[in-house]
Amino acid sequence: MPAREKKRRAAQAALGHVKDGMVLGIGTGSTVAEFVKALLDSGIRLAGAVSSSNATSALLRAGHIPELDLNAVDELALYVDGADEATFQGALIKGGGAALTREKVIAGAAARFVCIIDDGKLVEILGRFPLPVEVVPMARAYVARQLVKLGGRPVWREGVVTDNGNVILDVHQLRLTDPAAFETAADQIAGVVTVGLFARRRADVLIVGGDVGVRTLVPREPV
Ligand code: A5P
Repeated sequence: MPAREKKRRAAQAALGHVKDGMVLGIGTGSTVAEFVKALLDSGIRLAGAVSSSNATSALLRAGHIPELDLNAVDELALYVDGADEATFQGALIKGGGAALTREKVIAGAAARFVCIIDDGKLVEILGRFPLPVEVVPMARAYVARQLVKLGGRPVWREGVVTDNGNVILDVHQLRLTDPAAFETAADQIAGVVTVGLFARRRADVLIVGGDVGVRTLVPREPV
């Protein structure tokens, strides 16, 4: 079965967490696009949504879902987003679509984070997918050297400028046996805006689309 159909299944299942009148945080990517489509088809009416990217804002506008500024929202009950890789414990690599900073802010602000993926993204150990790191442009080379010291091989995603005006380094050849420790270490480097590791603030619920339907994991063990 194509990954797109698995993503659609996961997106559809996430609707079970959404109620009329909610304010929702909405992530970025093709799985989220399926989720927005399913949401519009469902007839559920949100009070509004906080968007994680310009791309998602465009989807919200097209679907006539009111977009809210996170600063104007007291409590965000739920965040729904995809991921590039996920462990069974809910630690994630995100940022393949370069939206990691706003995604991490909204995940942090939300009471509950439901992550929707296809089963090809579920791994024992994170790192096969190159870890995106958003960096202030003038710090790019310095940050790259520091990431080498942490054991990675950073590659500049040339031509990509994030919604926040920054650049992305994709860090290859990592094997993240302790993702929370790596997240903390990379966060310390001056010039790093956001590390695309969601290990300290993990997904609370993982909905995994596969050939035979969806599996819902509610990780509780430590990363
Ligand atoms: C966006 O920056 C990412 O964090 C996405 O959540 C991730 O790339 C998943 O994308 P797809 O749903 O398109 O696979």
